[in-house]
Amino acid sequence: MAYSMKDIAKEAKVSLTAVSLVLNDKDTRVSESKKAEIKRIAKQMNYRPNSAAVSLSKNVSYNVALIVPDITNPFFARIVREITTFLNTKGYGTLLVDSDNSYKNEKSALQNLISRGVDGVLLVPSNEIFSENQTEVTKLLQNLAKPLVLLNAYTTRKVSYVNFDNVKGAEMATQELINYGHRQIAFIRGENNFVNALERYEGYENVLKKNQITLNQNLVFRGDYSMESGYRLAPDILKNRQITAIVSSNDLMLFGVIKWAKEHQIPIFKRLSMIGFDNTPYTEILEVPLTTIDQDTEKMATDASELLLKMIQTKQKIVKKIIIDPILIRRQSVWKR
Ligand code: RIB
Repeated sequence: MAYSMKDIAKEAKVSLTAVSLVLNDKDTRVSESKKAEIKRIAKQMNYRPNSAAVSLSKNVSYNVALIVPDITNPFFARIVREITTFLNTKGYGTLLVDSDNSYKNEKSALQNLISRGVDGVLLVPSNEIFSENQTEVTKLLQNLAKPLVLLNAYTTRKVSYVNFDNVKGAEMATQELINYGHRQIAFIRGENNFVNALERYEGYENVLKKNQITLNQNLVFRGDYSMESGYRLAPDILKNRQITAIVSSNDLMLFGVIKWAKEHQIPIFKRLSMIGFDNTPYTEILEVPLTTIDQDTEKMATDASELLLKMIQTKQKIVKKIIIDPILIRRQSVWKR
């Protein structure tokens, strides 16, 4: 049975107004002991405020929009789980949209969700957003009617974001392979229009230079962060017998390479050392568990959600840039050359 404020008032022998003031932490002349009694009764009755009524009176919905580019990528699935769990503990629901990496879908999702009354937006942008008409994108992001935080992206716009230090992550991966004696290291990069992808490539380049290894463009392969792109690139990577190791800009592309190798009976784990990016759950269950760069999605999800809630609750626009440090997770896919 659902109890109302009326039931609490009856039980505590006070007026309905007194109960409402106490439960909403408003100023009241009700004594401290009576306040405690009202709160105790509300707890005993498992009292839950009627959310529709609260929303109407405060003009809030206690819902946050979350837009991700590809829910099939376990990296984003993890972010979704962490954000929804976190927001739930703070009394907020999450309305989730998968934009399928399309700017058009992102734009209509933003308009749609805002018109449905969400209190704020967490946007993990598609790659496409970075190659669209940038004046339009700036207008869209900066003039959004609700607070906004971007995740997994950089922007010079007046918008908050939480991202990883991608340069450092790729530097750590490349240096690890060099420490194990590798010099012919292939790099699988993401698309050019995506800053994170460019930065990972920059990290690879930096470390080669630091170790006086000449950058060889024949060892650089361009994917698009999908497993299919890794699968497509695999024959070219594997036919180059100079290559002894791979750094991949994400685990999924590496999974694609491994899949192709398995289908063609190539003992890839014996031939190549490999490091991925994302620490996706399946990295551990491969026949040779994969060394990978972890991007601490839990921290990203929590930092972004906390920032958004702060903006919602204080009604202030905050422009903050948060960069998270990558972590090298050492498993067994790197061996001495
Ligand atoms: O956009 C895809 C990639 O970016 C993910 O795999 C993850 O690495 C993220 O940072």
